[in-house]
Amino acid sequence: MKFKKITLILGLAMSISQLMAQSPVLMPGNVDGITIAGQDVTFKAGNIYGKVAVYSPSVIRIRLDKKALGRDFSYAVIAQPQQTKTSITQNDENITILTDSLKAVIYKKPFRIAYYTAGGQLINQDEPGLTTGWVGEEVTTYKTMMPDERFIGLGEKTGNLDRKGNAYTNWNSDTFGYAVDMDPIYSTIPFYIGIHHNLNYGVFMDNTYQSDFNFGASNNRFSSFTAKGGEMNYYFIYNKNVAGIIQSYTGLTGRMKMPPLWSLGYQQNRYSYYPDTEVLRIAQTLREKQIPCDGITLDIHYMDHYQLFTWDKQRFPNPPELTSKLNKLGFKLTVIVDPGIKVQKGAPAYESGAKDSVFIQYPDKTFYTGQVWPGWCNFTDFTSEKGRAWWRKQVKFFADNGVSGIWNDMNEISTWGQKMPSNVLFDFDGQQTSHLQAHNVYGLEMIRSSYEGAREHFKERPFILTRSGYAGLQRYSAIWTGDNRAEDNHMLLGVRLMNSLGLSGVSFTGMDVGGFTGGASTALFTRWMQIGAFIPYYRNHTQLNTKSSEPWTYGEDALEISRNFINFRYKLLPYMYSNFYESTQTGMPVMRSLAIGNTFDGKIYDPAFQNQFMFGNAFLIAPFESTKEYGKIYLPQGEWYNLYNDEQLHGMQEVIKPLDMGHLPVFVKESSIIPMQSLVQTTAEAPTDTLSLHIFNGKTANEFVLYEDDGKSYNYEKSDFNKRTISFDPTHHKITIGEAAGNFVSKFKAVKLVLHGFAGLGQMKVNSKAIKISQGYYTMIEPVNNIDPQGANGGRRDAAQVQELSFGLSNQKQVLDY
Ligand code: NOJ
Repeated sequence: MKFKKITLILGLAMSISQLMAQSPVLMPGNVDGITIAGQDVTFKAGNIYGKVAVYSPSVIRIRLDKKALGRDFSYAVIAQPQQTKTSITQNDENITILTDSLKAVIYKKPFRIAYYTAGGQLINQDEPGLTTGWVGEEVTTYKTMMPDERFIGLGEKTGNLDRKGNAYTNWNSDTFGYAVDMDPIYSTIPFYIGIHHNLNYGVFMDNTYQSDFNFGASNNRFSSFTAKGGEMNYYFIYNKNVAGIIQSYTGLTGRMKMPPLWSLGYQQNRYSYYPDTEVLRIAQTLREKQIPCDGITLDIHYMDHYQLFTWDKQRFPNPPELTSKLNKLGFKLTVIVDPGIKVQKGAPAYESGAKDSVFIQYPDKTFYTGQVWPGWCNFTDFTSEKGRAWWRKQVKFFADNGVSGIWNDMNEISTWGQKMPSNVLFDFDGQQTSHLQAHNVYGLEMIRSSYEGAREHFKERPFILTRSGYAGLQRYSAIWTGDNRAEDNHMLLGVRLMNSLGLSGVSFTGMDVGGFTGGASTALFTRWMQIGAFIPYYRNHTQLNTKSSEPWTYGEDALEISRNFINFRYKLLPYMYSNFYESTQTGMPVMRSLAIGNTFDGKIYDPAFQNQFMFGNAFLIAPFESTKEYGKIYLPQGEWYNLYNDEQLHGMQEVIKPLDMGHLPVFVKESSIIPMQSLVQTTAEAPTDTLSLHIFNGKTANEFVLYEDDGKSYNYEKSDFNKRTISFDPTHHKITIGEAAGNFVSKFKAVKLVLHGFAGLGQMKVNSKAIKISQGYYTMIEPVNNIDPQGANGGRRDAAQVQELSFGLSNQKQVLDY
């Protein structure tokens, strides 16, 4: 009897293990072979190899593979693990890793990992029974879907702000005129933020193979992330707020550098402006019509038959003369580059690239040839140092011609047919790999090469722009959202794409204002130009054979409205530049989804309000379709001012505003500190030496770091900046302009303080000296036909009553009591 039982049990055990062995899904087994060294735990889990490493008190990295862990290499992550106070303990059941802010528990039987706050609240866990599994080469980690969990971020992804219920693929794709729900489009950032129970966390899966993210699509059990090859390699980030998560994520993948000041100005593009006289005509017209502008861009027609590093000699006989004329008018020139080098015997770029063998190849060592604008092309291998060095050398061509910006296009890689073979090989910095692993990172390494080449050869900071990229692209480049359509829902989609990029570490973002394909109505064009004034990269661009879309092509009203909004942007330059500085320091985007500051307010995810965003910390922008006559806006927590007339509104409520062409709904948050300057037509023109400092009264204390430097050189890296903290303390009735830090001499010598919502104030003390306050009217953005002789506001329809006072600006701390 006993014998029979034992055989039965043995038989059963054998068939279970056989079943497991035959399962098409390979899963980790029990954890053993554990080594704890400093902040790292390495182990085996059945046939799986794993490593869990503490990177900082709030970042833990997980690596899992079905073979011994290979080379530790990343194009995205530039940070090394920080020395972190960590305790690692274990018993039969689990290993506990504890930092000051995060606890990770590795369960041993079988392997599974869960993350808790230091106080023990569950943040995120592997879904028991699914954990991480392999189907062939494809690896997926499954996470328990928490009740009411939301998901935001994942870079340049279409769809709603809250990604719950949807799934997305990362495979950089050239998607001309994409539909508003198209996925994937141009760029890959495999980083998202999960939100539940007043907690938020980030997951960054650093794997460049095609990847899939599932946030509860076709299932109600888990969220998951999948890579089609390579190891499971992800970073778990916990922080109390979304800003902290972005800070940690950009701590890993890097932050943007200070952009050239001119690139924050308005930029005029078209596919394509040529010949040179047309470029100058556009520049001249912008000046004549007094439309502030800093950048003009040349699309592919500047090249000789689209061949890189050439000029069409008929259209552009003397490029240095053109750039010098443009510079004198206060414009910088950006030119487009594509990765494809035309296969053309005798052409210098082709001959030198072929001789140095810098192009990607098939396994039989012949160059891969694909078709793009110039015809059949070879493509530089930017994943090899040899390829990057070659490209950096070519970039001198632009420096020699006075070019200031490099626009990297078609770098998904795009080839006609869009089916580049999988067996094309890439160096991948010493560990040769196939197209499958290199594809998503190609654009990133191209912009790296362009940035580094420009840094080597350009006299001043370059403006680098890209269409494609991978996590970390913010280190080198701005990005725009590709070939959108001149349609209302595309304008709103563009806003969401940029908000999502901002959540994913990329601050310098833009879209084709006015729409790339098709033609905008006057109302749509105007609305788009207004929104453009509040996005980080303000570019007007349109496709070949479409109606021109310079601001004057849509009639007088559109011109005046566009000009007024561009004017406002130029006056805001001190505010904007300081916000970019903040991005360089913390990764905080300039354009901010409301999910950053109001993460746990369910209202902001409502599709009716999801397009609203903050421009810096002060402005809330509510974009609406140009066809709408009324707009419903949700004002989150706090008190708000209507930008046009200082009407005060309570937060946590919906307000309905009539919409007209001249008014984009914009609100200013209470306690905002907004430094502004006089209007200039280009950043090459110096503003007056008076800083207009706007303070909006409120109940909460606030601070703003005003940052200045020369706007063009790298001297700021050697402390050649001027930085001061301006604070508003309503409890103690104090405004303080902190002592200036850094060696740069501020362009401002005087301050004009403009107080909003301080009615009744008679005087103020500036460093204990009483100064009389005067009453005035102020209009932030001049609407069309604003003069109204009957109007109460100093004869204007839109104006706010403000209090003003002026005093000299010192480098020492200045305390203003009221
Ligand atoms: C595709 C880009 O997305 C678009 O902006 C550009 O105008 C065309 N290529 C032509 O270069």
